[in-house]
Amino acid sequence: MPDFAPMSRSRAQQIPWKTAGRVSETLASGDDVVRSTGWVFNNETGADLTLAEFVETGDHEVPAFLEVFGLRGDHTQHQTLIEIGSGIGRMTCAFTREFGSVIACDLDQGFLERCYETVGRFGKVERLRTLEVADGRSLNIAAGSADVAFSYITLQHASFDDALDLAAEAVRVVKPGGVVALNFRGPRGSDFFLLTAGKLVRALYRVPGIGGWATKRRALTRLAWQVSRIHPDQVTGPLGPRLTDVQVWTNPASKLSAVGAEMRTFEGVNPAHWWLVARTAAEPPTT
Ligand SMILES: C[S@@+](CC[C@H](N)C(=O)[O-])C[C@H]1O[C@@H](n2cnc3c(N)ncnc32)[C@H](O)[C@@H]1O
Repeated sequence: MPDFAPMSRSRAQQIPWKTAGRVSETLASGDDVVRSTGWVFNNETGADLTLAEFVETGDHEVPAFLEVFGLRGDHTQHQTLIEIGSGIGRMTCAFTREFGSVIACDLDQGFLERCYETVGRFGKVERLRTLEVADGRSLNIAAGSADVAFSYITLQHASFDDALDLAAEAVRVVKPGGVVALNFRGPRGSDFFLLTAGKLVRALYRVPGIGGWATKRRALTRLAWQVSRIHPDQVTGPLGPRLTDVQVWTNPASKLSAVGAEMRTFEGVNPAHWWLVARTAAEPPTT
């Protein structure tokens, strides 16, 4: 039996997550998970890492992003937030303290189980529900059921089409007047090398005898993650009619610009990333 879940060739980008998820299921404690696979979430390695330190990184980032995007306040205690790509709950713990209800969504069911445990230790687990994104592109959640949809360092790991589908899903599941805050990786000069190398590594995953070994190598996995680069216009174009108050947030050093969006900057944005922060239009979608 292969040591990663078989899936269609077009979804080979999911293999590193499924592999890390499967490894995480075999480990005894959350600390062990962070030491062996925590780097897939925040790039930190080390034999002394703990789940508590891992969650602390999310505890710093979540209030910072919510504050700067104008999503913080007492009212959020009565709101529902959907997190797309929660992993094992690095940020989810903080979300459960900020929001009355949180739905953590991820491709990998093993990560979601760990996420539940992580929030049980460091967050408010009674506020958490989890949802597997089995096809990597749609959310099995009723339209208009959340106030905020948030996604961080996830859509860049999906194919271009899946990322756009997930962004459209984020808009669909947020009620009119709610907010989407979605993080993407934008186009850059190094893309040709990185995206080509990423494709080659994902092709390697298919080679019997080498594929399983390759899925556990950090250096190769970091290349396999290089899946999509999306310009703000490629998202605001199709989704624009369903949004209002469209803001694109970048690092102050970024040269990205977007048509029809208010450009904003924040030091906390990775220079290669950008965020779409927008309200959903008052008229709910008819489909
Ligand atoms: C880099 S981790 C980030 C996790 C979390 N947002 C954080 O900052 O710690 C990316 C997460 O997205 C999930 N993911 C990747 N592609 C996905 C997809 N198409 N749909 C849902 N989740 C996905 C992975 O399983 C992984 O847990």
